[in-house]
Amino acid sequence: MTKKLLLMMLLVLPVCVAAQVRTERLLEKGWKFTREDNATFSATECDDSKWQSVTVPHDWAIYGPFSIDNDKQNLAITQDGQKEAMEHAGRTGGLPFVGTGWYRLDFDAPEFRAGKTATLVFDGAMSHARVWLNGHEVGYWPYGYNSFYFDITPYLKPGETNTLAVRLENEHESSRWYPGAGLYRNVHLVINEDAYVPTWGTQLTTPVVKKEYAKVHLLTGLRMPEGKQLADYRIVTELKDASGKVVATAENRGSKYDDGKFVQDFVVDRPALWTPETPALYTAESRIYEGSELKDEYTTRFGIRSIEIIPDKGFFLNGERTVFKGVCNHHDLGPLGGIANVAGIRRQIRILKDMGCNAIRTSHNMPAPELVEACDEMGMMLMAESFDGWKTPKVPNGYNKLFDEWAEKDLVNLLRHFRNNPSIVMWCIGNEVPDQWNGATGPKLTRFLQDICHREDPTRPVTQGMDAPDAVVNNNMAAVMDVPGFNYRPFKYAENYKKLPQQISLGSETASTISSRGVYKFPVVRRAMQKYDDHQASSYDVEHCGWSDLPEDNFIWHEDYPWSIGEFVWTGFDYLGEPTPYYSDWPSHSSLFGIIDLAGIPKDRYYLYRSHWNKDVETLHILPHWNWEGREGEVTPVFVYTNYPSAELFINGKSQGKRTKDLTVTIDNSKCDSVGSTTFKRQQRYRLMWMDTKYEPGTVKVVAYDANGKAVAEKEIHTAGKPYAIKLEADRTKIAADGKDLSFVTVSVVDKDGNLCPLADNEIKFKVKGKGYYRAGANGNPASLESFQKPQMKVFSGMMTAIVSSTEEAGEIVLEASSKGLKTAKLEIVSEK
Ligand code: GAL
Repeated sequence: MTKKLLLMMLLVLPVCVAAQVRTERLLEKGWKFTREDNATFSATECDDSKWQSVTVPHDWAIYGPFSIDNDKQNLAITQDGQKEAMEHAGRTGGLPFVGTGWYRLDFDAPEFRAGKTATLVFDGAMSHARVWLNGHEVGYWPYGYNSFYFDITPYLKPGETNTLAVRLENEHESSRWYPGAGLYRNVHLVINEDAYVPTWGTQLTTPVVKKEYAKVHLLTGLRMPEGKQLADYRIVTELKDASGKVVATAENRGSKYDDGKFVQDFVVDRPALWTPETPALYTAESRIYEGSELKDEYTTRFGIRSIEIIPDKGFFLNGERTVFKGVCNHHDLGPLGGIANVAGIRRQIRILKDMGCNAIRTSHNMPAPELVEACDEMGMMLMAESFDGWKTPKVPNGYNKLFDEWAEKDLVNLLRHFRNNPSIVMWCIGNEVPDQWNGATGPKLTRFLQDICHREDPTRPVTQGMDAPDAVVNNNMAAVMDVPGFNYRPFKYAENYKKLPQQISLGSETASTISSRGVYKFPVVRRAMQKYDDHQASSYDVEHCGWSDLPEDNFIWHEDYPWSIGEFVWTGFDYLGEPTPYYSDWPSHSSLFGIIDLAGIPKDRYYLYRSHWNKDVETLHILPHWNWEGREGEVTPVFVYTNYPSAELFINGKSQGKRTKDLTVTIDNSKCDSVGSTTFKRQQRYRLMWMDTKYEPGTVKVVAYDANGKAVAEKEIHTAGKPYAIKLEADRTKIAADGKDLSFVTVSVVDKDGNLCPLADNEIKFKVKGKGYYRAGANGNPASLESFQKPQMKVFSGMMTAIVSSTEEAGEIVLEASSKGLKTAKLEIVSEK
C-alpha cells in the first residue's frame, strides 16, 4: 500500500464514523439478576456483584423447580363451565414466575454525546416493568407482552458508565397459562442525532397492487429539536428489491401541510408479490437531511400484497381466495420458556409449513418481533392479537386491572410496531372476553378497540375470538366486527352467518382436540374431558374438551362453505400451563392440545392436518404403534392419515380390506347440533379407519391408491424389539457461532433393526463437547417434572428433543447420548461465524 493511499484512508475513516447517524445495539450481555426486592436496587450505587450473571433474553422461571405451590389457583374457570372454585395446580405451568425480579446492567454508550438523542426499546418485559437509568426513573410499562420504549436522552451520560436497573413483578392469578418472567425479549439501545425518525416511525402501505405495477405510499415521522419544523428537512428514499436493486426513488422536502410526516409515493413495476409461497420482501431506505447534513437513515422492510374480504366469497390474498389453515400458538418455546429465540421460532415455522399451515394466531397477546420477522421471511400469515381480557376479569389479577388506563396505549404500540410487516393480515382485539355477555358494554368496547385499529392501520381487517355465539349475535357485538371470529361450536356457524351482516365467518379458534404423543386408549370411542390414571389423552385423535371437537368437525365447514374463511386450531404446539382436563391433577402442568408436542415432535394428528392442508406432498401415516403385548387377539383399530383417497391395510400379509374416504358425508347429513357428537361420520370423509382389526405382533402395511385405483405408495410399521440403541437426528447440523443459535436434536430409542421402541422410557444422559453446550431438553410428557436444563431426561413414548447451543467460538460440537444398556450415540454439529 502506498503512503498516499494510507493517508487518504486515514482521512476518510473519521468521516465514515461521523456518518454513523443512527446506531442500534442489543443490550444482551453483562446483566446482573436477583429475585430479591429492595428499593435501593434502583440506585446507581448498589453492590450487585453477588447477583446472578445472566444474558438477556432471560426467563427466570423456566429453570424451576416445578412445584404444586407455584401460582396454585383456587377459582372456578367459568369459561370451562366450572361452577365452584377448585384447586388448579399446574394451570400456569407450575413454575416460579410469580414475584419480583431485578435486572441491572452497567454499560457504556460511546456513540452518545451532547446534542444526540437516545431511546431504550424493550421488545417485552414480564411484567410491570419499572426502569431507572443512573438512578432516575425513566418509565413504567405494565403489560408484559407489549413492546415499549422510553426517551432516555436526559439521563444518559456521555463518556461514562451508565447504570440501568429494571424491576419486574408478576402477580399470582394473573394468567391462564405460563407467561414466563423477566427480560424475556430483547432490549435495544438506539442513539440518534437531534432530528430522527422515532421508534416505529414509518407507515408504509400499498394502496394499489396489480401484476403490472404497485403503488407504494410511505409516511415518515420526524422528531425534531425545539424550534425546528418539517420544512427544514428533506427525505430521500430508495425502494430496493430483495437483491438490493433500486426499483423506485423519491425525494421530498417537508411541508407544513403534511402533519409532521413526510409523504412519499412510489410506483414499482412488475412487483414480486408477497405470498406464503413466495415471501418476497422489499426495503424502503430513507435518508433525512437538514441542508446537506445527514440526520438519519431509516429502513422500513415491507412486502407488496393485497388483502380483501369479499362477502360470501371469502378472504383474498393478491386476488386469490385463500383459506386460513391456521394454528393458535402461545409464545413459549417449551423447554426454552418464554424467551424469543430465533432458532426456536424458525423451527416452529418450518414444522408448521411442512404441515401445510399458512397462518398463526398469536394467542392471546403481542408477538415477539423475531416471530413477525421470521413470518415475513418464511411466508406465514399472522393474526396478531392484543388481549385475553378487557374490563371484566378472567383471572383476578389479569388485564382487567389495566384496561381503562392502558388498553389504547397497548393497542397503539402493537399496531405501530407491526403495521409494515406483510405477514400480518389481520388484527385480533380480544379472546373470549367476558364482556361479550354484557350487551351494554361489550359492543361498545369492541367498537372502541376496532376503531383504534382502523385509525392506526386502515389496511387490515379486525377480528376477535368470541365463544358466546348467541350472546354476541343478539347484542350486536359480532355485527360490529370487520370479521366475526368464533371460537368453537361450528354447528352455530350457519345460523350466525344468516343473522350477521358481514356474510363471512372465521373459526378464530377450533378443535381443542387433546392427545399425548404415542399414547393410545381403548376402546376407541369419542370422549370429552376424559381423564386417565397416567394423565395422558389418546393419540387416536378422538378426545376433546366439553366445548370442543375433532379436526374434521371443522375441516368440513371451511371446505364446503366459501363464507367460512378458515380456522385457527387450538393449538399448533403444546405449551406450558393449561393441562386441561387435568385441572387439579398435579403433576400435569402443560397442555395436551398441541398438534405438535412440547418437545416440538409431531403427534399423529400432525399427519391428519398435513393430509388435508398440504395436498402437494405425500402423507401416508399409520397409527397406533404396533407393540401391544398382552392385547393379542383384541380389537386394536388402525387409522391411516393420507392425502390419497383410498388404501388397503395388511396385517402380517393378510388384507384387512380397503377403505375409501367417504365424500358423500356433508355438513347436512352429518349434522350435530351440539358439542356432544358421538359418531365418527365426519371422520370418515378425512381419515381411513379400520375399527375391527385385531392385534398380532408383526407388520402392519398400508398400500395407498390414487383416484384411478392405482397403487401408488406403501408404508409399513413393525412390532419393535427390545431397546438397543439411541438415535440422534438434528434439525440443523450447521449453526451460527453466535452463542444464540440452536440445533434441535430428536432423540429416539430404537431396536437393533432401527425401529422406534414406542414404549421406551429410558433415561438418557447427554454430554456436549467442543464449541457448544447443552441448552435444554423436553420429552413432551405433560406430567413430567424433570428439569428442562439438566442434561438427563427420560424419553417419552421412545422420544425426546435435546437442544444444543453454539458458543461464540466457531468449531465442532459433539453431542453424546448414553443410557444404561443402550448403544451410545454421537452427533456432530458445526458452528460457523
Ligand atoms: C379457549 C381459550 C384458549 C384455551 C382453550 C382451551 O376457550 O380461548 O385460551 O383456554 O379454550 O380449549
